[in-house]
Amino acid sequence: MHTLSKTDPEIAQALENELVREREGLEMIPSENVVSRAVLEALGSVGTNKYSEGFPGKRYYGGNACIDVIENLARERAKTLFGVTHANVQPYSGSPANMAACFALLEPGDKLMGLNLTYGGHLTHGWKVNFSGVYYQAVQYVTSPDGWIDYDALAKQVLEEKPKLLFVGATAYPRIFEWEKLQTIARSVDAYLVADIAHIAGLVVGGAHPSPVGFADVITTTTHKTLRGPRGAMILCNGEPSEPMKAPPEKSRKYLPTMIDRAVFPGLQGGPHNHQTAAIAVALKEAAAPEFKTYAHQIVKNAKALAEALTERGFNLVTGGTDNHLLLADLTNKSIGGADAERALDKAGITVNKNTVPNDPRKPYDPSGIRLGTPPLTTRGMKEEDMRVIAGWMDEAIKNWKNEEVLTHIRHQVKELTDRFPLYPGLSYLSANR
Ligand SMILES: Cc1ncc(COP(=O)(O)O)c(C=O)c1O
Repeated sequence: MHTLSKTDPEIAQALENELVREREGLEMIPSENVVSRAVLEALGSVGTNKYSEGFPGKRYYGGNACIDVIENLARERAKTLFGVTHANVQPYSGSPANMAACFALLEPGDKLMGLNLTYGGHLTHGWKVNFSGVYYQAVQYVTSPDGWIDYDALAKQVLEEKPKLLFVGATAYPRIFEWEKLQTIARSVDAYLVADIAHIAGLVVGGAHPSPVGFADVITTTTHKTLRGPRGAMILCNGEPSEPMKAPPEKSRKYLPTMIDRAVFPGLQGGPHNHQTAAIAVALKEAAAPEFKTYAHQIVKNAKALAEALTERGFNLVTGGTDNHLLLADLTNKSIGGADAERALDKAGITVNKNTVPNDPRKPYDPSGIRLGTPPLTTRGMKEEDMRVIAGWMDEAIKNWKNEEVLTHIRHQVKELTDRFPLYPGLSYLSANR
């Protein structure tokens, strides 16, 4: 069998280029991270070769003794880390995990409520063109104009709408979720509270954001954001032990583990991605180490330092700052749209993404803001002083967004900084011995 560079030099070269881009740039998209070599190794493993429909001990295929060990380790680590009695580690990604939560808890046409996409929510929380807005009766809530969740307004809307499921979680919300209040709101109409902690899972296990455990009925999360694992997802809950091959006696909170497992398989998926499960298990082991707590708190410290430095330079941050890993900057006062800012920063070696801001007068494809975050930079070892330097470059790039010379100069300075925080030393997709 040949190595990648021999078999497919075009893909090897494209991966090498991506490796160099990640090495030499400042990756500031808050939903991204940099996995360890151990996670990368597990992901590129023989687990991908195996079919294992079902769950550990109850598979529809032979030869699964080793895969059972892997999936059991992932499930046990997830349960211990988050403090729940049940974990399903099979969803292929965050969107399928949310689909499974809906499939488990709702009947087609039931009412769900979620935060509107343009106010920081996710597509799968009831957006009109998404499955969640097509197969269910979706009602959307919004933040206050200054970007904060208005718990009183939400409580009132929930009482009026009486949804069966309330999604709470976001892709672009820079503040803490108050789970106890949210539980009270959901319980006022006996709705299931589904906490989608995709963005903040790493902060939750690191103690840098309150945990929804004990308040939410079901918790969905991706594994590839602050949790620093491979692309993938998990669904967590409490209840009677799962019996996935049997229909539960009734659909109720008591039988959530069985309802969730059956929704994932055979409800929505076939064979789990075992290489992904192995990599999730490794990431969960890393997240259980004491250093991960320091890491999670450093993500927030860095985000706060970045927020402070940008505010000093006249950037207008939605909600006025951040309590987590991300910032949302409204660029209206900078006379530049989000799309132009994203492009200029990209040329300067700083990767962010354009994003709507609350009540955005512009279109989602060219919105008023940019969204940025600190997880990948924190993984690389950067600290508050580096954030202040980066804020200066961002300001300069946005002021000079049409000046290629300035942008190139910043890019060189970015490279000097990133060279001090080496990424995957020794890794190459072009070397013959891979
Ligand atoms: C809150 C939230 N939920 C779900 C998802 C979906 O995850 P995926 O892109 O893995 O489908 C995301 C992705 O950005 C997210 O931010």
